Amino acid sequence: MDKFVIEGGNPLNGEVEISGAKNAVLPMMAASLLTEGKSIIRNVPNVQDVMTMKEMLETLGADVSFLREKKQLIIDTTGTIGYEAPYEIVKKMRAGYYVLGPLLAKQHRARVSLPGGCAIGARPVDLHLKGMKELGAEIDIKNGYIEASCDKLKGDYIYLMGKNGTSVGATINVMMASTLADGKTVIEGAALEPEVENVVQFLNKMGAKIKGIGTQHLEIEGVKELHPAEIEVIPDRIEAGTFAVAGIITNGDITIKNVNLLHIETILNKLKEVGGKISIGDNEISVRGNGGIISTDLTVAPYPGFPTDMQAQFMALMTVADGISVITETIFENRFMHVLELNRMGADIVIDGSSAVVKGVKNLYGCPVMASDLRASAALVLAGLSAVGKTDVHRVYHIDRGYEKIEEKLERLGGKIWREKE
Ligand code: EPZ
Repeated sequence: MDKFVIEGGNPLNGEVEISGAKNAVLPMMAASLLTEGKSIIRNVPNVQDVMTMKEMLETLGADVSFLREKKQLIIDTTGTIGYEAPYEIVKKMRAGYYVLGPLLAKQHRARVSLPGGCAIGARPVDLHLKGMKELGAEIDIKNGYIEASCDKLKGDYIYLMGKNGTSVGATINVMMASTLADGKTVIEGAALEPEVENVVQFLNKMGAKIKGIGTQHLEIEGVKELHPAEIEVIPDRIEAGTFAVAGIITNGDITIKNVNLLHIETILNKLKEVGGKISIGDNEISVRGNGGIISTDLTVAPYPGFPTDMQAQFMALMTVADGISVITETIFENRFMHVLELNRMGADIVIDGSSAVVKGVKNLYGCPVMASDLRASAALVLAGLSAVGKTDVHRVYHIDRGYEKIEEKLERLGGKIWREKE
């Protein structure tokens, strides 16, 4: 296993290029199972989760080539495609469940390992299964697997809002299944995240008939078959937000290129509120620290609210803000894994139910910390960049799942960070 070693206290300067959005690529890869032939996905980030989904598609019989230099995935689903998503793969990446909808729609059968929980919470899939059942699938849960089958899916009116609001995964999974169903499907309470919109664009290029893009009311007219297509993945808004925090927490001056401004508007507004100096260009932003960081409260929310995937990174920033901040996590029940590690670095955070009360300190102190999940790990890297002294972030495989060579990008910005064997 690898660790990152970080010497804190160096302001970041220079330019960084944002990669494609992991959370858009993964469902697009699954969507290729809805047709036979060669689809091309462009602007693909070189992250571990993409390699895991590649393994999943190959296990099902697809031929997948990842041209890293060109950031392109070529997925050929000609020929026989299986219907089983094994535990060995889904346990590594719960997004493996995205093959459920496409396999049901195309093969009328799917056997998908139930994704377990993960560090940030129980991560149920009840809304995914509710949607599939309402499209006419028979669903059994046996020996830790979802056993699903159907004659032909039939369009229906499906309400997909859960107890914590909209579901990105359920919206995408059920939408993919409905593209080949008989008749019309309405998904009410659909998630609005930009990644959902990017998947809709891909499906419509494949010949699907989906309307309501960007609203909570999606209408899908089922078609007989889809055809391969090409799609460009949107920039990763969470990576962009993570680097914006890095620019401010190190009191640096960086330019972040290849961003979609609309997708990061809420994040940028929050960062301005806490003192970040932000100027915007066509598809780039410049972010400067201005010496001090102002505390403020934060409650995460589904898009277009402040994303839960930026909560940990924002908390790292508030640990060295001037004053007290209350950060409330409304989406996942256990997304404060970074708190104890930040406190080991000298932060002063007290958890109170679904909120964390952060009392700003003058600075953090480097020490060995443990990564636990993707975004908590990113928060520890940000804290290390700001801390006095050396920080070792252990188990960085969590970061490699969703950030493309984050240590190289930070190093090019002047950050003193490098990878070592544990
Ligand atoms: C996606 O997860 C992202 N992952 C997550 O990013 C992100 O945090 C999350 O959306 C919210 O934006 C991918 O896209 C691969 P949800 P997903 O279904 O789809 C509850 C990262 O760091 N729920 O929108 O699994 C659920 O428990 C990852 O990149 C049900 O109750 O999230 C949560 O409270 C972490 N039943 C809420 O809905 C269900 O069937 C939102 O979850 C499904 C979800």
